[in-house]
Amino acid sequence: MLIALLPGDGIGPEVIAETVRVLDRVTDKLVFETAPVGGAAYKAEGHPLPPATLDLAKRARAILFGAVGDPDCDRLERHLRPEQAILGLRKELGLFANLRPATLFKELADASALRPEVAGAIDMVIIRELNGDVYFGEKGMRKTASGRREGYDIMSYNEDEVARIARVGFETARARRGKLCSVDKANVLETSQLWRDVVIEVSAEFPDIELSHMYVDNAAMQLVRNPGQFDVIVTGNLFGDILSDQASMCAGSIGMLPSASLDANQKGLYEPIHGSAPDIAGQGKANPLATILSAAMMLRYSLGLAAEADRIEAAVGAALEKGARTPDLGGTLTTVQMGDAVLAAL
Ligand code: IPM
Ligand code: MG
Repeated sequence: MLIALLPGDGIGPEVIAETVRVLDRVTDKLVFETAPVGGAAYKAEGHPLPPATLDLAKRARAILFGAVGDPDCDRLERHLRPEQAILGLRKELGLFANLRPATLFKELADASALRPEVAGAIDMVIIRELNGDVYFGEKGMRKTASGRREGYDIMSYNEDEVARIARVGFETARARRGKLCSVDKANVLETSQLWRDVVIEVSAEFPDIELSHMYVDNAAMQLVRNPGQFDVIVTGNLFGDILSDQASMCAGSIGMLPSASLDANQKGLYEPIHGSAPDIAGQGKANPLATILSAAMMLRYSLGLAAEADRIEAAVGAALEKGARTPDLGGTLTTVQMGDAVLAAL
């Protein structure tokens, strides 16, 4: 099975390298092909998502993605910036459903920014819509009537986009504790009013699921106050971006959380939710566990290798239990040593 490896920028190549070592240990069914993406691709080929990279992503059964983002590229025209690579892949491949599980490994209760007894209750999945919202609306710079500069980005969702991600939310809740919380800003935004109306309409198909609604500001507060109340959260692209970073810190470290971005046929792109961390790139300080756990999601959701996925997740837990900690978790292990710790547990 062909896997596209897109390491990208910053710490991306380091965390992908450890993940490939782990994958090679649990299965010999994978064939890897690597292509440049992000700032690295811009520097090598003049575009953050070169045609050959997109082609590889389309041919592959699944995509394992590191991170994109490079301060050298921050002043480029927007369509050439590294971030456009991941946005382009999500759009071109129709990867609309982003699953971001936030679970606290019990060994890490003291690494959370929250009190251990609050953090210990975290066990949720954030389902973030990825193909719409203010991310993909018309945007630009213009002048006001008085000649002042003005930036704008149009937010919109149509009902079909909301209904399909709502269904992913309900189905995910059905496979868990049966609770779905839809997060919006319906008290202010028309986009959110439609979102809420459509989620309620779709809920008729899922009478067994307990549906609630929360404004995004309140959700941000509740995530810190009592994260254990959430089972599945479904939300739009922008709110999901923000809340999933927040949830990661509640769960210990942003270096721990994996994600899956799926199309309608379980083809997926798998990536850690953290970014390229240019400040620590190349120093061996990055935590590879979010990427290793993303690979486990890949085995489970796109490749039908659930037993191998379980083995990887158990090995991560065992390594943590033995005290393996990279600097983000308060330890001193290098990226490679953390990879070694997972391999040892396998
Ligand atoms: C994420 C990232 C991306 C996003 C960036 C790199 C474009 O923050 O995957 O959460 O905003 O979606
Ligand atoms: Mg983000």
